[in-house]
Amino acid sequence: MTHFRDTTFYRYHCDTKHTLARLYSHPHFLDWANQPNPFRHYDGAELIDLPVPERPAAREYFGLANATESASVTLSTVSQLLYYSMAISAWKEVPKRGLRWALRVNPSSGNLHPTETHLIARNVAGLEDGCYHFRVDGFQLEQRYAGPVDDVLRGLCGECAMAPRVLTVVLTSIFAREAWKYRARAFRYCHHDLGHAVGAIAEASRGLGLPCFCNHLFDDSVIEQALGLDGGDEVPGAVLSMGMEAEDLRSTGVNARCFQGTANVLTDAPIEYSAIEEVYRATAGRGGARDAPVSPPTCGDGVALSLQRSCDSRRDLWDVIRQRRSGVNFDGKTAISADEFGAILHRATAAAPGDVFHGPERRGFVRCYVYVHRVSGVDAGVYQYDRCEHRLVRVRAGDQRKAATRLSLGQRIAGDSAFAVSMIADFDGAYRSLGERGYRAMHLEAGFIGQGLYLGAETVGVNATGIGAFFDDKVNRYLGLGEGSEVIYHFTVGRAVEDVRLRTTAAYPFEQ
Ligand SMILES: Cc1cc2nc3c(=O)[nH]c(=O)nc-3n(C[C@H](O)[C@H](O)[C@H](O)COP(=O)(O)O)c2cc1C
Repeated sequence: MTHFRDTTFYRYHCDTKHTLARLYSHPHFLDWANQPNPFRHYDGAELIDLPVPERPAAREYFGLANATESASVTLSTVSQLLYYSMAISAWKEVPKRGLRWALRVNPSSGNLHPTETHLIARNVAGLEDGCYHFRVDGFQLEQRYAGPVDDVLRGLCGECAMAPRVLTVVLTSIFAREAWKYRARAFRYCHHDLGHAVGAIAEASRGLGLPCFCNHLFDDSVIEQALGLDGGDEVPGAVLSMGMEAEDLRSTGVNARCFQGTANVLTDAPIEYSAIEEVYRATAGRGGARDAPVSPPTCGDGVALSLQRSCDSRRDLWDVIRQRRSGVNFDGKTAISADEFGAILHRATAAAPGDVFHGPERRGFVRCYVYVHRVSGVDAGVYQYDRCEHRLVRVRAGDQRKAATRLSLGQRIAGDSAFAVSMIADFDGAYRSLGERGYRAMHLEAGFIGQGLYLGAETVGVNATGIGAFFDDKVNRYLGLGEGSEVIYHFTVGRAVEDVRLRTTAAYPFEQ
C-alpha cells in the first residue's frame, strides 16, 4: 500500500491549504449574480405537505441515550424529524437593504447549504412506500418514486452494512454551491457540513426515540443508482437508517425504476473545479482495507486534568436545536464553568451507532486540541483532549487568545470565546484503514463532533461557530504535530453578540 502522502486526497489537501501567500496572490470576489440557488426542487414531482410538527416530549441533551426500542414511525414523525434537523429555523432580514436569507437547523459553511435530504419510506404510516426529496423551503416532500422499495433498501443497507429499517435518510452534497465561495477548498467544507447534518439528524431521531445508524462507507455508484441521482449535480454522502427493522424484505438486487421530477438548475454559470472532481472520484469507493486496526490516539505526558462528564442544564433539547445559531462576534468576556466545559467535550465526542467514528471501539480519526481562554478553574493554555479517559493533557501554557485568532485566519471569534478547538485528524490511520475514502471519513467525523459542540454550547446557554478557515501548516507547527496528523477543522465556543441590525422572522407560515 502506498503512503498517504502519495494519494490523490493528500495532493488535494496540500493544494487547498491556506497560506498568506496564496490568499494574497489569488484573491477571490463573489459573483453575487451567479450565487447557486440554496433550494433544490424536483420540478414535476408530486408535492406532499408535511403535517405541522407537534412539539415532542421534553428531553435533556447531555443525558440523552441512544434509543434501542423504536417508537412507531408515521408521517408526523417524519415531519418532526425534519423540522428538528434539516428545516429552515428562521429568516433573517436587513430591511433597509432589502436583503433576506434563510437559516437552517443544520449549520453550513457560508450558509450555502450543499446538503440535500432524501427519504426512503417503507411501512411509514400515512406515507406511501417510495422515495422522496425534502423540499426545504415549502416544508414538503417531493415524491420521486411511489411503489415497493424492498430492492432499494436491500441494496443500500447491504452496501452500508446495516439493517434495513422503516425510514432511511440519504444525504447528498452539491459541491457547486460551496465552490462558488470556497473554490477548490469547497470539497472539505461540504464534508464538514455533511457531518453536521448527520449529527443533526442523529440527535433529532435520538430525541424522538428512534434507533438510528449513521453510515457513510459505501460505493457511491450503488447509492446514485438507487436514488436516481446518476448524472446530476448531487452526489451521495451518508445513509441513515432509523426506526423499526424492516425484516421481511422480499427482493434481491436493485431494479431499474423511473424517478419523477426534474432537478432545478441552481446557477446559469457553474464553475467546475477539476481538483474537486478529481478528489471526489478518488474517494468515491467504499473504502480500502475496512476495519484494519487503528492505533488508539496517544496523548502526551504533560500536566493532566480530569473533567466532569455532565453538568446541570434546564434547556429543552427541542429549543436548543431550533434556536442554535453561529456567533458572528463573541463578547470576549463570558466564562463557562469547568463542568460545562467537560460536559460539552464529552458529549460531542461520544460515539454514535454506525461508522461515523470508525475503527475498533469506535475511536475515530479525530482528536480535539483545545485553546482554553475563559473556563473557570482551568488555566489558560492549549490542551489535548483525551476522549477515552476524558481528561486534558497540557500542550502549551499561557494566554492563547492571539494565537487562536491568528491561526484562524485572523478571525476574532477564535480568541473572544471561552475556548477554541483545533480538530486534528490521523491521516495515516485513516488511509491505512479506509484508503482514499478515509479523507471523507475524517472530515465527516469532524463535522459530527462540531454539531455536538454547537448543541452542547447552546444547552449551557452560550453559542458556537464552526471555523473552516485556518492556516493549515501554521496550526500543525504550533501544536507540534507528528508525521501523519494534520488539522482539518476549527471551532469556537463562547457568548455571541447579537447583531441588532438584523430582523428575524418565522421559518414557515404555520409558525406565525
Ligand atoms: C464547516 C463550517 C465552516 C464554517 N466556517 C466559518 C468561518 O470560518 N467563519 C465564520 O465566521 N463562520 C463559519 N461558519 C459558520 C457559518 O457561517 C454558519 O453556520 C452559517 O452562516 C449559518 O448560520 P447558523 O449556523 O447560525 O445557522 C462555518 C460553519 C460550518 C458548518
